[in-house]
Amino acid sequence: MTNTHTIALIPGDGIGKEITQVVKQVAKALGSPITWDEVVAGQDAIDETGELIPKAVYDAIDTHKVALKGPIATPIGEGFRSVNVSLRKHYQLHTNIRPIRVLGQIPALHRDVDIVLFRENTEDLYAGVEEQISPDEAHSIKIITRQATERIVTAAFEYAVANDRKKVAIVTKANIMKLSDGLFLKVAREIAAKYPQIEATEVLVDNMAMQLVMRPQQYDVVVTENLYGDILSDLMAGLIGGLGLVPGANLGDDVAIFEAVHGSAPDIAGQGLANPTAILLAFADLLDHISLQADATRLRDALNSVLSDAGNFTRDLGGDLTTAAFTDKVIASLA
Ligand code: NAI
Repeated sequence: MTNTHTIALIPGDGIGKEITQVVKQVAKALGSPITWDEVVAGQDAIDETGELIPKAVYDAIDTHKVALKGPIATPIGEGFRSVNVSLRKHYQLHTNIRPIRVLGQIPALHRDVDIVLFRENTEDLYAGVEEQISPDEAHSIKIITRQATERIVTAAFEYAVANDRKKVAIVTKANIMKLSDGLFLKVAREIAAKYPQIEATEVLVDNMAMQLVMRPQQYDVVVTENLYGDILSDLMAGLIGGLGLVPGANLGDDVAIFEAVHGSAPDIAGQGLANPTAILLAFADLLDHISLQADATRLRDALNSVLSDAGNFTRDLGGDLTTAAFTDKVIASLA
């Protein structure tokens, strides 16, 4: 008998509810042995319980160890801290993996891109160490440690070895931030030296932005700090057709949370226009993680096949399919 896996599901805000609903439908169509434990975080949770991340969310993640999370809105420049950053810190989800690949016949700026980005997920300027010095002066402290750097760089090189990748690019701004980025680079060089079979290159983040736009094909695995990884992964998403296409895994020693790279897309929320591909790819990564590789492969193949026909594109890709119509195509392709 197949074991049933219970997964914590946090629908999120904006398009989050629409796209996580799609995942539930697709999981059912796949026949994956999954049950969902649905819990609410973010503004809806504040409205319902007065808490941003209610105990039920922690309980579900503590119990099931694996979660699928829709995007959660964070107020800009004021208000509560990011739920995403809080969960990553709480569960020490140190490794954020974002694969950037072209699917089907999507109208990508560059077609031959296949990059896997490793982003340190717990420190850097996202550590939340900020200080208001005066009404006219504020400081954010950038935190880089040897331990976290060793962990993320090792993860990138181990991935390269396991997946027959040839190169790892280490991205910093160590020419300017000689202490913090300098430490990241120094530790990364030490780790790289343990993997002589993998070609390690060093790129400054500003040059990286330009290189990615002009010649992204030169990159294979990329490893970087938290803020640079956040920005560069959106840039990379733009190269291959947009934010609706890139999934992200947040891995700790004990807990894994899978999500799309994009946010809650308030501009299209509630209109049935969201492209669910990114969250479905995140779900495929989740299926791999819980050893349901055959289901993961069927789902990726179905997405690739559906997206090979421009008649199946959602609006973000220049088509006119709604979320529901696109989902029907994916489910039909699974059958
Ligand atoms: P966003 O990613 O939500 O949207 C940027 C643009 O991409 C918008 O035009 C949107 O319509 C489009 N887009 C994004 N995902 C799409 C999809 N699946 N299908 C079609 N179009 C899509 O970024 P934005 O507007 O900067 O952030 C909105 C909110 O999301 C903010 O509150 C932010 O804090 C939050 N956010 C949450 C994240 C998470 O939960 N992991 C990640 C990024 C942002």
